[in-house]
Amino acid sequence: MSKINYSVELFMSNIDHLFQNNRAWAEKINQEDPNFFDTLAKQQKPEYLWIGCSDSRVPANELLGMMPGEVFVHRNIANQVIHTDLNCLSVIQFAVDYLKVKHIIVCGHYGCGGVLASMDNESYGLIDNWLRHIEDVHRFHQKKLDAITDHSEKFNNLCELNVIEQVANVCNTTIVRNAWQAGQELTVHGFVYNLSDGILKDLKVSSDKNS
Ligand code: CO
Repeated sequence: MSKINYSVELFMSNIDHLFQNNRAWAEKINQEDPNFFDTLAKQQKPEYLWIGCSDSRVPANELLGMMPGEVFVHRNIANQVIHTDLNCLSVIQFAVDYLKVKHIIVCGHYGCGGVLASMDNESYGLIDNWLRHIEDVHRFHQKKLDAITDHSEKFNNLCELNVIEQVANVCNTTIVRNAWQAGQELTVHGFVYNLSDGILKDLKVSSDKNS
C-alpha cells in the first residue's frame, strides 16, 4: 500500500461520523414527512436570500429555524457585498431574477473575526486584501468610531456599520435597482447576530422600492 492510499484511508475513517449523522438526519426528516425530499428535489422556492459571514457559529438555516428549501444562502468572511465580486453578484442575480426572493438579508455578527482583524495592523496574508473593504467602512465612519473610547463598543459598532454598508451595496447593485424599477416586490434588510445568546437584531435599515 502506498503512503498516499494509507493517508486517504485514514482521512476517510475520520469522517465516517459525518455520513452517520447525515443518515440519521435524513431518516428523522423522512419520518416526519415521507414526501419531504421528493417534493424538494423537484423545485426550490425560497423567499429569502441570506448574505452572512462564513463563521461556523452563524448557520443561516438553523438560527432562522428554517428547513432546506426555505433560504438561499451566500456566505463569505465578514458578510461582504463587493461591487466586483462575481460570486456574490451571481448569487444575488439568480435569487432576484429567477427565484424571485422577497427579502434579502445581510447578516453580520458581533465578535466577527474578520471585522476584528481589520481593526489591527497585523498581516494575515491574502485575506488582508478582502479585509481592506472593512477598513473602508471604518474610514467612512471615522468620526463616529474615533469618538468611542471603549474597544469592545467600537468593535460592536463596526460590526453593525459593516452590515449597514453592505445593505447599501446590495441596494446599489444593478440587479436590485432593475428589480425595483420593474416593480418587483423586494426588501433588503440588515441584521446582526449575537453569538452569546443566539439572538438576531434588526438594525432597522430595511429598504424597498419606496424608500
Ligand atoms: Co464573522
